[in-house]
Amino acid sequence: MQRAIGIFDSGVGGTSIWKEIRKMLPNETTIYLADSKNAPYGEKSKEEIIQLSKKNTELLIQKNCKIIVVACNTATTNAIGYLRENYSVPFIGIEPAIKPAALHTKTKKVGVLATKGTLSSHLFHNTSKLFAEGITILEQEGKGLVELVEAGKVYTPETKMLLRKFLDPMLEQNIDCLVLGCTHYPYLIPVLKEILPSHITIIDSGEAVARQTKAVLENKELLSELNQKTDVFYSNAEIEVLKSLLEGSNVNVSYLDF
Ligand code: SIN
Repeated sequence: MQRAIGIFDSGVGGTSIWKEIRKMLPNETTIYLADSKNAPYGEKSKEEIIQLSKKNTELLIQKNCKIIVVACNTATTNAIGYLRENYSVPFIGIEPAIKPAALHTKTKKVGVLATKGTLSSHLFHNTSKLFAEGITILEQEGKGLVELVEAGKVYTPETKMLLRKFLDPMLEQNIDCLVLGCTHYPYLIPVLKEILPSHITIIDSGEAVARQTKAVLENKELLSELNQKTDVFYSNAEIEVLKSLLEGSNVNVSYLDF
């Protein structure tokens, strides 16, 4: 059997990353864990996020995954150091796309929408310092947004109102780039486009992560040469929202108690 790319997230949001991986690596088998029972990670302590990331990693290793994509900004920024130190499987993480935003902005003002757990992490601060010299980063915690995406409530007045509340102060400060620092947020892009003026560029990390996954697999000679892929999704909560986000993809979605 083909060894899979393992992917985990605090819930359904990491499927935005899975979609990019599927596009870029069409021959690869994937196993995705949606830890929706424990969402959101963004409000948890670093220690709790490490424990949850450990649990997900061990299940993916048990399933013989050849690489693990931590498709969650909060888990990456808080736990990837621990995971890399303690497991020999290669890990790909997701950091808010500060570097491309810093290269793109003309107003030198970039908005970052992310969870509390990501914004308060050392990794996020180090990345901002490294890549955003001379750029003002306006950070905004997206409290409540992960829950709305997990509940399948994207196109609702509640979501729109919350996004306006988060984005208006950034717009007043003249940002021209908005970095989506949480893998749940790309599902909000249609609503964001209704709210944001057209000159604002929305940047997420999906394609860059898929590219990096491919590069690491190539480098380690782990790319699959067979065209026998399967895509298996497990959720430890109800699976309806996960299924709806994957509609049109030929995948298996089921409940698993993990
Ligand atoms: C969360 O579970 O709070 C968000 C996941 C992420 O940061 O991507």
